Amino acid sequence: MSFTNVDQAECQSYFVEYLTQANASPSFQAYKQRSYQSLGDIVGKHVLEVGCGVGYDVFNLARIVGPEGHVTGVDLSETLLSKAREQAATGSLPCSFEQASIESLPFEDHTFDACRIDRVLIHVPDPAQALEEVLRVLRPGGVLVVLEGDFDSLAIAHPDQELTQTMTSLWSSLYLHGHIGKELSSLVQRAGFAEVVSEEYKLEFLNPDFAESFLGFRDGVQAAISTGAVHPLKAALWWADIRKLSREGQFAAALTGYGVRGVKQ
Ligand SMILES: C[S@@+](CC[C@H](N)C(=O)[O-])C[C@H]1O[C@@H](n2cnc3c(N)ncnc32)[C@H](O)[C@@H]1O
Repeated sequence: MSFTNVDQAECQSYFVEYLTQANASPSFQAYKQRSYQSLGDIVGKHVLEVGCGVGYDVFNLARIVGPEGHVTGVDLSETLLSKAREQAATGSLPCSFEQASIESLPFEDHTFDACRIDRVLIHVPDPAQALEEVLRVLRPGGVLVVLEGDFDSLAIAHPDQELTQTMTSLWSSLYLHGHIGKELSSLVQRAGFAEVVSEEYKLEFLNPDFAESFLGFRDGVQAAISTGAVHPLKAALWWADIRKLSREGQFAAALTGYGVRGVKQ
C-alpha cells in the first residue's frame, strides 16, 4: 500500500488506521518530539507541515507555537485532510489545512519560519525538486526538518537470518525511494540549505500487526517470490515463523530513521 495517491486507493480507512497506529507507537513519539525541538524556538512563528496526513504533528506544533503563531498543514490527500479538519474543528488550535502537492506549494516566496516533513519524500517522484520548492516558501533564516526511514536497514528477528536478509534486501524496492533515509542529508544540501546536520534514530516494532502493516510484509513477501529471490514455499515458511514468533510475543523488528535539519540562507 503506497501513500503516493491515497484518494485513489481502494481502502482508505487502512491509511487512517496506519497513521493512528504509527502516531501511538513509542519510538515514533520519541523521534517526533525530538524533531519538534530541532525546529528551534517556534513560539509565535508560522510553521508549515508538508504531508501532514491526519494532522497529528500539526496539532502538536500548534500547541507549541501558541496563539501568536500558526501552523499550516498541507497534504495531497483530501481524504486524510478531511479527518484532520474534523479534529481541528473540535478545538481552537492555531492551525489550518490546505490540499496541495509538495511539488507546487500554493504560497508566496518567504512565507514560513519553519517547515517539517515526516515520511513524505519517500513517496514523491522528485524529492530534490520538492525540497527546492520548500526552500522557496521559507523565509531567509527559516529552518527545515525532514525525516525518513531507510528500508535497507530493516532488521527482523527470525531463526533463519540468511533467508531474512534475502527477504529484507528487496524491501526498499517496494517504495519509490526506499533508500532515501541515508541520502537525505546530501539531498537537503544540494537543494541549497546551509548548516545541514543529520541525526539517526531507531524505529522499533514490537507490535506484529502494526509492523506487518507499516513495513508492508505482504508486499515484501510477494516481491521475494515474484523476483524469484525466494521459493514460494520457503517464503511461506518464513512468514509462518514470523507468525509463530508473534503468537509467542517474540516479534521484533527495527529500522533506522534519519532526521535532517537545514537552514535557508
Ligand atoms: C507516511 S504518510 C506520513 C504522514 C505524516 N507526515 C505523519 O507522520 O503522520 C505520507 C503522507 O504524505 C502525503 N503525500 C504523499 N505524496 C505527497 C505530495 N506529493 N505532496 C504532499 N503530500 C504528499 C500522503 O498523502 C500522506 O499523508
